[in-house]
Amino acid sequence: MNIIDGKAVSAAVKAQVKKECDELKAKGVTPGLAVIIVGEDPASQVYVRNKERACEECGFYSEKYALPENTTQKELNALVDRLNADSKINGILCQLPLPKHLDDKEVINRINPEKDVDAFHPENVGAIMLGEYKYLPCTPAGVMELIKSTGVDVKGKKAVVIGRSNIVGKPMAMLLLHADATVEITHSKTVNLPEITRTADILVAAIGKAKFVTADMVKDGAVVIDVGMNRDENGKLCGDVDFENVKDKCSFITPVPGGVGPMTISMLMRNTLTAAKTQNNIK
Ligand code: GUN
Repeated sequence: MNIIDGKAVSAAVKAQVKKECDELKAKGVTPGLAVIIVGEDPASQVYVRNKERACEECGFYSEKYALPENTTQKELNALVDRLNADSKINGILCQLPLPKHLDDKEVINRINPEKDVDAFHPENVGAIMLGEYKYLPCTPAGVMELIKSTGVDVKGKKAVVIGRSNIVGKPMAMLLLHADATVEITHSKTVNLPEITRTADILVAAIGKAKFVTADMVKDGAVVIDVGMNRDENGKLCGDVDFENVKDKCSFITPVPGGVGPMTISMLMRNTLTAAKTQNNIK
């Protein structure tokens, strides 16, 4: 068993982004990212802090808007409109989930698709389906980089995705499909799930349940990627995979933390760089 070092792969991506950012700056363009967070969700605050830190590391310009819990839809929409019109800002990210009284969809639809570095806007989601990527969805793209780092060829392999969210499960299946895997999407209503997951050469767990994937669900020698970010019974951070018991069955596995998490952020940096290039007509 090999543990995939997400921090190292992520650092390599960020180093490349920084290099390209320096080249852009020499042409008078600094990539700019605006991050919006509404309310006090502690996990979201950690993610947003990490995104700001990554912007600094890559040499980007960044703005953070920490709005109070009682922000109205109208106020949030007005902020998005202002950022859409601001030429210093190439990428806009609104951290999800939003407080219950706000509509995620309305915000996502309002962000200019050219600045939608999360690739959540329906126009970008449609492009992903067609394989004509403007922006790669950050977490699934990070997973693909991690798989690539193992040297395992995805082509023709059986990939099973557990989870069907718009943010991870669905776009993940598309990226694997475009890489010529044979893909099966499973979810909480799937019957005989272990029977299906045991067929996976590549297993991606994105179901949001602590230690859900147990050793009996994993094929010998599989590549196991854990997108989960949960707390276990002792309040300790853990993934969707029962790491200690699964690790000896697979060829490669990602840890939590230090696996997929850091990759999501470096892919966001890459998308922001792409946004800055595109918006300034630089190849
Ligand atoms: N919440 C959890 N993951 C993400 C993400 O990738 N982007 C945004 N905007 N919110 C999230």
